Amino acid sequence: MTTTTTATSGAATSTTSTPLLSVRDLTMTFPGRRSRSVPVRAVDGIGFDVAAGETLGLVGESGCGKSTTGRMIVRLLEPTAGSVSYDGRDITHLSQRQLKPLRRDLQMVFQDPHSSLNPRQTVARIISDPLMVQGSSAADARKRAVELMDLVGLIPEHIDRYPHEFSGGQAQRIGIARSLATSPRLVVADEPVSALDVSVQAQIVNLMERLQRELGLAYLFIAHDLSVVKRVCDRVAVMYLGRIVEIGVKERVYAAPAHPYTRALLSAVPLPDPAAERARERITLLGDPPSPAAPPPGCTFHPRCPKAQEICRTEAPLLRIASPGEARQVACHFPEAA
Ligand SMILES: Nc1ncnc2c1ncn2[C@@H]1O[C@H](COP(=O)(O)OP(=O)(O)O)[C@@H](O)[C@H]1O
Ligand code: SF4
Ligand SMILES: [Mg+2]
Repeated sequence: MTTTTTATSGAATSTTSTPLLSVRDLTMTFPGRRSRSVPVRAVDGIGFDVAAGETLGLVGESGCGKSTTGRMIVRLLEPTAGSVSYDGRDITHLSQRQLKPLRRDLQMVFQDPHSSLNPRQTVARIISDPLMVQGSSAADARKRAVELMDLVGLIPEHIDRYPHEFSGGQAQRIGIARSLATSPRLVVADEPVSALDVSVQAQIVNLMERLQRELGLAYLFIAHDLSVVKRVCDRVAVMYLGRIVEIGVKERVYAAPAHPYTRALLSAVPLPDPAAERARERITLLGDPPSPAAPPPGCTFHPRCPKAQEICRTEAPLLRIASPGEARQVACHFPEAA
């Protein structure tokens, strides 16, 4: 595949010529929870591509718009503006009926496995459901559910049990099996390990990696923690207050983060070597992220940024290529030299 670079302000990507998923200027404005007249711009014009078989990590603190982005992509939410294209086709405004065949290809795994599985349904029913919706017979769907349980490392004989009879890690395996039932090409995984014990997280990440290799899946892998996506992603996009502030190939972003926010997030990830941990620079962010109902003017990160200068208070930096010859893009007036 040929690789090209897109450098417009709305599209933040190193792309292949035929991306599986293309998101452009995607925006979600919710009516305010406290006052409906004060809208909440949860996602503010973001753009990126995901190639077939690729994993894009989407990271940022709680409330920055990650889940809203994921839900717009699988059309659980209707975007306020912008577009989502799948395999070259604009799917942003398709009706539920038009979306039905696409639901095979585009699936989602949720953060809390137990609350995303219907407690009154058996595992057989939960995993079979997406297949029955697509027209499979009950017998075929059950046969496939048995195969899927085996694929995700569950005991197929447990197929008639209920979700509460499984641990958190096992329940997430059920959620993953359900997402794979229709043989999708893209899975949006919204913090799939955040609700699990640390000891179980690695097992689920391993499982997702294995499934990707075996099935050729692409993932949009959402996490608030940069250390979780480091293992799985090819590229990473960092979000802050509804916008992408840095996006690039994993190796470059982790080795030489260019945006002060990425640097701060990375400096909070513990290092395995205690000496390196003691020696490294820690960047402490001031305060909590501002509300998307009242974003600061200029660069929205400026009230918390250790490098902020006068221009940052008035002019919003565009997302653009920071160093010549590199596909990485950064939204900062003073990006760190790579
Ligand atoms: N249905 C909604 N109505 C109003 N505000 C919402 C709604 N859903 C999310 N938000 C707000 O949008 C912002 C982004 O939320 P979300 O996408 O869940 O962030 P993340 O997944 O990164 O934690 C937050 O400020 C959140 O409070
Ligand atoms: S534009 Fe200014 S405030 Fe924003 S991240 Fe860069 S240096 Fe910090
Ligand atoms: Mg979320």
